[in-house]
Formats: sequence, C-alpha cells, structure tokens
Amino acid sequence: MSRDAFYITTAIDYVNAEPHMGHAYEKVGADAMARYQRLRGRRVRYTIGTDEHGQKVAESAAARGLSPQAHVDSIAGRFQEAWRQLEISNDDFIRTTEKRHHASVAELFRRVQLAGDLYLGDYVGWYCKSDETFWPEGKLVEGNCPTCNRPVQKITERNWFFKLSRYTEPLKRHFEVNPEFVLPVGRRQEMLNILEEGLEDLSISRSTFDWGIPFPGAPGHVVYVWFDALINYITSVGFPADEASFGTFWPADYHVIGKDIAKFHTIIWPAMLLAAGLPLPRHVFIHGFVMTPTGKMSKSVGNVIAPGEMAGKYGADALRYTLLREIAWGQDGVISEEILVNRYNRDLANDLGNLLHRIATIVEKHFGGVLPPVSEADAGPLEAELRAAARKAATDAAAGYDVFSFHQALEGAWGLVRAANQYVDRTEPWKWAAGKAGDGKKDALAPDAPTARRRLGTILTLGADALRQAATMLFPVIPGTCQRIRDALGAAGPVVWDSEGLLAGSLAGCRVVRGEPLFPRIEPQSKAEVAVPVKPAAAAKSASARAALAAPPAELAYDDFMKADLRVAKVLEASRVPNADKLLQLKLSLGDGQERQVVAGIAQSYAPEALVGLQVVLVANLKPAKIRGIESHGMILAATDGDGKHRVVTPDGPAPAGGRVK
Ligand code: MSP
Repeated sequence: MSRDAFYITTAIDYVNAEPHMGHAYEKVGADAMARYQRLRGRRVRYTIGTDEHGQKVAESAAARGLSPQAHVDSIAGRFQEAWRQLEISNDDFIRTTEKRHHASVAELFRRVQLAGDLYLGDYVGWYCKSDETFWPEGKLVEGNCPTCNRPVQKITERNWFFKLSRYTEPLKRHFEVNPEFVLPVGRRQEMLNILEEGLEDLSISRSTFDWGIPFPGAPGHVVYVWFDALINYITSVGFPADEASFGTFWPADYHVIGKDIAKFHTIIWPAMLLAAGLPLPRHVFIHGFVMTPTGKMSKSVGNVIAPGEMAGKYGADALRYTLLREIAWGQDGVISEEILVNRYNRDLANDLGNLLHRIATIVEKHFGGVLPPVSEADAGPLEAELRAAARKAATDAAAGYDVFSFHQALEGAWGLVRAANQYVDRTEPWKWAAGKAGDGKKDALAPDAPTARRRLGTILTLGADALRQAATMLFPVIPGTCQRIRDALGAAGPVVWDSEGLLAGSLAGCRVVRGEPLFPRIEPQSKAEVAVPVKPAAAAKSASARAALAAPPAELAYDDFMKADLRVAKVLEASRVPNADKLLQLKLSLGDGQERQVVAGIAQSYAPEALVGLQVVLVANLKPAKIRGIESHGMILAATDGDGKHRVVTPDGPAPAGGRVK
C-alpha cells in the first residue's frame, strides 16, 4: 500500500575531514529521489547530517589543537556549506552532538536493555579507528582492516555488549520475506552470506577515550560511535518525544548508503530496531563508489576533487548532472573535471541550452516575446511525433527515477530534448519567419503571410512546451536550470509532474525572456589541463605543444596565396548533421544560380537558423571531401573568440555573392 509520506536518509558523514566527491555523490542521488517524490506529490522528509563522535574525530580535533566540540562545529559548518552550494534540499541536518539525539539514544538503550540484550563482557580483538569498526582476527587481511586496508589496533577492554547473535535467524527471515529490503538485489546475497556465517555479539561501549555519548548507567564508558550514529535516523523524525512525526515518517522508505557500510545498515541497525521493538526501514539502497581516472580519491595521491569547488566553477547543476548521468547508481564509476566539461558542453550547452536559445530568439524577434497560440488544425505528423516523444520521455524518466536509475531517467528525459531540437530542425521556423515554406517543403510556393505566421506560432509554442516539460523531468537532478528555463519561458506556478497534459499548448500567451545562455560553452584548453591530477611534466609538455601550435606558419609567396579562390557566398539553408554534435550542413549561393554544399564544424557556436541569409567567405577551390557521408565542397572561414566560440568571417557591408575576396 502506498502512503503519502516518504522518508529518505543518507549516511551521516564523519567530521574528521572535509566533504569530498563521494559524500557529494550520495547526497545528490538521494536529493534527486527526494525531489522526484515531492514532484509526484509525496510528503517528503529528507535527512542528512554529520557523525560527530568517536576516537577518529577526537584525534582530528587534537591534531588541530581544538576541543572536540570546536572542531566538530567548524567541520559540520563546512559540510552544510557544501550541501548548500550543491542545492541539496534536505529537510533536516542532524548532528549527533545535539541534545535531541542524546535523548533518542537514551530511550533506545532503555528499550534494548529491557529486552535483555545488553551485558558486560571482555573484548579482546582488533579495532580499525578509521572505519570505527571491530574486527575478529580471522577477518583481517594481511593484518590490516579488510575494508580500508589500514593498520588495526589490538584492544583489550571490559565493554558492554549487544546480543547481536540473537538476531541471526530473525534477520534471515526478514531478508526472505522482504526480498527488496537490500537494493540493488545483487548486494543482498553478500549480506545473506554474513548471516549464514552466524553473527557474533557486538561490543558497544568504549572506555579508553571520552568523546561520545555517556553510556547509560556505566560511568567511564561512552557509546560505540556506530551504535550512536545509526540511531540518528529515528532521532531526525522525532523519536521518542514527537509521536505524530515518528508515526508519520517511520519506518524510513530508503536509507541510501555506500557499499563500505552495508553491514551496519542491513544487519546491525535492523537488529537494534528489532531489539527495541521498532519497525525496520523498508529499503536500504547501496550505491557504488566514485573514483577518479587515477583510482580511489585520496589526499596522498593528490586526486581529490572538492565538490564545492567544482560547483563554484561550473555550477551546481553541471556537477549534479554529471554525477548522476555518468555513473549507474549502484555501480562504481569515474568522474573527472574533463568528464564534467564534456557533459556540460555536449548535453547541457548544445542540447538543452541551445534549444531554449533557438526558440526564444525567434519568439522575441517575430512575436514581441509573447508565445503565440497553437493551431491544432495544422498539427501534422511532426507534431504527433513530438507528442509521442513527450509521452515516452515521461514514462521512461519515471521508470528510471522510481528505481534510483538516474542515468536512465536522464536518458529518458533527454529523448524529449533531442526530439524537440529535431522538431525545430525539421519544421524550419526560420523559413516560416522569412515568409517561405518550412517543414522541409523545398519546392513549395511561398505561403500567404497569415498561414506562415500561424504555422510559426504552432512550432514555437509546442517547441517551448516540449522544453518546459523536459525541464520538469530533469528537475530532480538539475532544479536550478529547470527553474531558469521556466522563468525564461514565462511558465508560472510550481513545477508539477504533468504527464497528463503533455504538449497541450498551455504556454500560449506567456512572455519569453531571452536572457544569458543557460550554459555558455566551456572550451577545455587541453586534455592535460582539465584532467586531475596534472603532473608537472605533463603540464610542461602540453604548454610546449600549445606554443608550437600558436607559432605562425612559414611565409607564403603572393602567388601561392592567390591560388586560394576566396569568394563571398550567401547562406541559403542550414541544418544540423544528424548524430554529429559539431557539424552543420550549409547550402550557399555564389550568385548567378550557382550553389555549393559545405559541411562546417560550427554547430556548437551557431543555431542553423542564425546563419540563414548571412554572407560568408568561402574557400571555393578546396578539393571536395565527404564528411559523414555528405559531400562538402569548400570551406567557410571563421575566427575563434576568447571562449572558443566560432565567429564566421563576413564582409563588412553588402558584397555581391560570388565576388572574389583578396
Ligand atoms: N559516519 C559513517 C556513516 C554513519 S551512518 C549512520 C561514515 N561516514 S563517511 O564520511 O565515511 O562516509 C559517508 C558516506 O559516504 C558513506 O555512505 C560512504 O559509503 C560514502 N562514501 C565515502 N566515499 C565514497 C566514494 N568515493 N564514493 C561514493 N560514496 C562514498 O561512513
């Protein structure tokens, strides 16, 4: 049975170091799910936070010469700042040093004690400070922690124990009855294997340091940091005081965590809840790890990518989009600045940003910035195709989001972005705007003005509506961009998942504002400059390579220069080359009825319609070549501006087509 409330959490991060890309990945993924569920009308509670107790944090504070409290206050602030930069829409940020959490831990302990599941015993074994995890000797790998491979320390302590072993069978049953308790299902077996081996009781107090929650009724002992941290999930929704809130949101729908902490969430935490007589979370979703091209992120390798820095440089949405588009949630994947720049240019600038620019430019020029009505009377096969693409995109995107398959959700939504760009390519609004027949009707007579205008209106408003709806489907991942698109199209009201009224022309009458480009193109200077990390030798090499490129070519004799036949040409038609990001196919007039076809690599700098009517300079006697199977006879000249955009060379005033340029 579905319910109105939806509760999602991420791991709470250790405050022994700065926020890194792995932390960001998890928060962004869970944020996309929280935003999606809000869009679908659920009452969402999204909790993130910081895990502030334990030996490791105490040592980090000491290393900074700060009290533990001063240390955790400053680092928790850094995490909050990073999540603000990434536009994380959490409803709560819980810190385990808060009073409300201490009260919640005390009550859970009372219940576990009442169940008879706590006892005092001697712990002799190994401890990984970095992961704050106890390990029996047999689990160590070459004497090191099996998870992080760091050295472990031998511990002999009189500690309090939790009777975890008692829960082996109840947990097995829970796994059986709830096959989707652990997701993705591929991870479930790993946890079942642990249960098959049988669980050992867990030491849950520490007495060799004091940075933790005092262990109830055991002076000199603090609660084991994991036992304290896991309880945050119920503290956040009001346990134990706020029964209404707790009753609404608990059990959580999803705990979203990384694979290194799966056992804590799928075995230890459920056992604690069973002992306390509380319901278990519905699902634990285990995501994969973010790596860099040079392997695991680590300070010593120097390949750490700071999420806040990336968001500051390229925008939160570029980072959010890249993280969720590049890596299949649940699997490991690689992220680098170069990958981000590629995604930014290819998807966000070329496809999405350009679509808005193309539509807004014509609406501004020909309709005073107000989206015209849609004429259903002349909606034909192209409109039917666009509407079908919108329905398919909504279905595919929802199917992806529903199961945390963000890359599929984005691919689904992108189906509509692509279809809308194709719709504009194929309907050729710039021709209708010039009083000619568009829609690929090459030999048609010029239509009468009202017909052309009506057709143009339909194309623009349906194109705009397709863009608005694609933006809605992308909202969970790139919320800021979605809002900017809506503002630019004059779409009022809240974002709603409106798969019912797809492309109904409801934007007619809205005022379009052609503002700054959504994603101004970024020109990577060289591969080495954006890849991380840059080794000094590699950087030097690329600098010398650039210097060589910038050096002027050898001198040219006048006669040799005159061999180049440069001519003024007028662009008659322009269209994108299918499946080629950078190419435009141009039809040029050289006067006297002479025409030329040229393929030019300027698609990332010009929308096709922006070129029609423009005078350009053609290298007319260049040997013909086939580019992507299309004949290209000649080359047009273009400069490159500071941002790497092409600027086509054009005569400074009217010049006859076919005239020689010298
Ligand atoms: N404090 C514990 C969690 C307690 S939850 C009650 C902890 N903290 S952590 O800071 O080490 O990790 C926080 C989350 O980030 C974990 O889910 C962890 O798996 C995730 N990641 C840490 N590095 C990661 C990557 N490189 N990639 C993706 N996520 C990774 O564990």
